[in-house]
Amino acid sequence: MKFENLLTELENGILIITINRPDKLNALNEKTVDEIEIAFKDAFSDSNVKAIILTGAGQKSFVAGADIAEFIGRSVEGAIQIAQKGHDIFKSIETGSKPVVAAVNGFALGGGCELSMACHLRVASENAKFGQPEVNLGLIAGYGGTQRLIQYIGKTKAMELHMTADMITAQEALSLGLVNYVVPQDQLIAKCKELLAKITSKPPLSISAVINCVNAYFEEGVDGFKTEVSEFGKCFGTEDFKEGTSAFIEKRKAVFKGK
Ligand code: COA
Repeated sequence: MKFENLLTELENGILIITINRPDKLNALNEKTVDEIEIAFKDAFSDSNVKAIILTGAGQKSFVAGADIAEFIGRSVEGAIQIAQKGHDIFKSIETGSKPVVAAVNGFALGGGCELSMACHLRVASENAKFGQPEVNLGLIAGYGGTQRLIQYIGKTKAMELHMTADMITAQEALSLGLVNYVVPQDQLIAKCKELLAKITSKPPLSISAVINCVNAYFEEGVDGFKTEVSEFGKCFGTEDFKEGTSAFIEKRKAVFKGK
């Protein structure tokens, strides 16, 4: 599928989705959000795609937030609609069956920070900056940021970042637990690929079960322990479980099929 504001490239089962509005620091206008929804839906249903890297075009910005120009003149009802739509799309990424790594190549502000947090893992380049600066505009985060930032860095720092609109460096994000790794910019995609090569060498049904169980911890009304019991049980019905355990006993390398 051809997109206006995204580039996609599939190599060895890893799909790289690049948000491509560098002149606007890859700000998320409605068209881009719609395309992100389609790109992920396609990726999750395409058996050729094993994992996804999400990044921004250029060397300056991952995503500098929602497109502020599109906010002008929007009604309360219209704003609620775009926030709800963003929530739904970001949730579909977070709960998707395939691992998604955000390659944060620069500013991850507002909706950009929120989009990176909807991904399962985050690798940042040394120049990356994270922040939720919406209060500067008379707003607050609207794509899940008030809830997800707490999950990653705790209430104390989340409250501060949302209230001060301060940006933090990649190193600070690393020490707060917001990102998994920080690497020089020219090694960013390679590091994401390395991480995904390891993950995609594992049985895909186990990986999606891990995603379900870890997400269950944060789902209201869901007992994550029960989710784990159920997902653990389901693993026993898979061919990859039989292969993994047989290969261990037979002292050979397992060949997983995702079945
Ligand atoms: N929405 C729309 N356009 C944006 C944008 C956003 N969130 N962030 C940056 N842009 C645009 C700028 O308007 C500018 O466009 P122009 O060249 O047509 O004027 C272009 O991207 C480059 O940005 P600029 O501000 O000139 O770059 P900078 O290096 O001086 O500053 C930032 C970079 C990220 C600090 C600054 O762009 C910024 O504060 N952006 C908004 C961040 C934000 O509040 N995000 C949350 C939105 S809810």
